[in-house]
Amino acid sequence: MSFKYKLEDVEGVGPATAEKLKAAGITTVEALAVTPVRALVEIADISEDRAMIITQNARSLLNIKFTTAKEVLSKRSNIGYITTGSKSLDSLLGRGIETQAITELIGEFGSGKTQICHQLSVTVQLPIEKGGLSGKALYIDTEGTFRPERIMSIARYFGLNPDNTLDNIIYARAYNSDHQILLAEEAANLIPENNVKLIVVDSVISHFRSEYPGREVLAMRQQKLNKHLHQLSTMADIFNVAVVVTNQIQSAPDVFFGNPNKPAGGNILAHGCTYRLWLRKSKENRRIARIIDSPMHPESECIFAITSSGIADIEEDR
Ligand code: GTP
Ligand code: MG
Repeated sequence: MSFKYKLEDVEGVGPATAEKLKAAGITTVEALAVTPVRALVEIADISEDRAMIITQNARSLLNIKFTTAKEVLSKRSNIGYITTGSKSLDSLLGRGIETQAITELIGEFGSGKTQICHQLSVTVQLPIEKGGLSGKALYIDTEGTFRPERIMSIARYFGLNPDNTLDNIIYARAYNSDHQILLAEEAANLIPENNVKLIVVDSVISHFRSEYPGREVLAMRQQKLNKHLHQLSTMADIFNVAVVVTNQIQSAPDVFFGNPNKPAGGNILAHGCTYRLWLRKSKENRRIARIIDSPMHPESECIFAITSSGIADIEEDR
């Protein structure tokens, strides 16, 4: 997706409205197309009808409309893949982490979710022939566990300049769930100008869980989480980027057979994510990944390793 159009190219957006939108951080037609009508009413101080028309016009300018199955196929042919650094993990996923999709990493503490997020923030920068997309990463960190030093070790292994690799990761710490949603909104402006090809949200759920504990606020929590996932999936789709989110597991007291743990976030996350990868610890630095609930993959597993230079296959001696 390029910067083909200016805000003023959208029918109904005059210079004054364009200024108001820019002041509110909506600087591209893409960002305008994904801004909810209600937010637009406030930002641009316009009527709901006008806001609705402007959003529709932005979408049709970008060709976001009903289409045919053939066009869907042609759009899918633009899907890019990012290597995880482990051949077995890549082939478990098909060819690696996909653009136009949300991949969810689920697992208990220390299972490797954050490590995979670090790894992908580096490998997305590799050229296509080496398993990357020559793009940047946008990293939303909700737990304060992002470590630039780790990025540098992984970059060195792949022969990338560690300094440049850090420059190519746009980072933000999200301090609460509203802030997290706001950052995702801002991301829509940053993606096209910076050639971002990967968005990481580590973790997608922790703020929501801690701010909305208990059954009384569950509906509100799920509504907000739904909004956030919707933002992410729209961006994955219209910008052709990969979205990777991490999720925790929680105990399920209502399960009497099988695994008493389940991913947090309920149906909203289950339905909102395209691919779900459940990570488990094995002995030493080994981890087991299992694909669950995939529309295209059979439920299967693989083993990978967390090494000092990143994610690797277990046979590799790094
Ligand atoms: P939570 O965020 O706590 O839920 O866990 P997580 O799934 O994000 O775990 P994370 O990805 O942080 O994995 C941590 C594990 O990675 C540690 O237990 C280490 O085994 C491993 N690890 C982290 N850094 C290094 C490193 O530099 N070298 C090696 N060999 N292993 C590392
Ligand atoms: Mg983590």
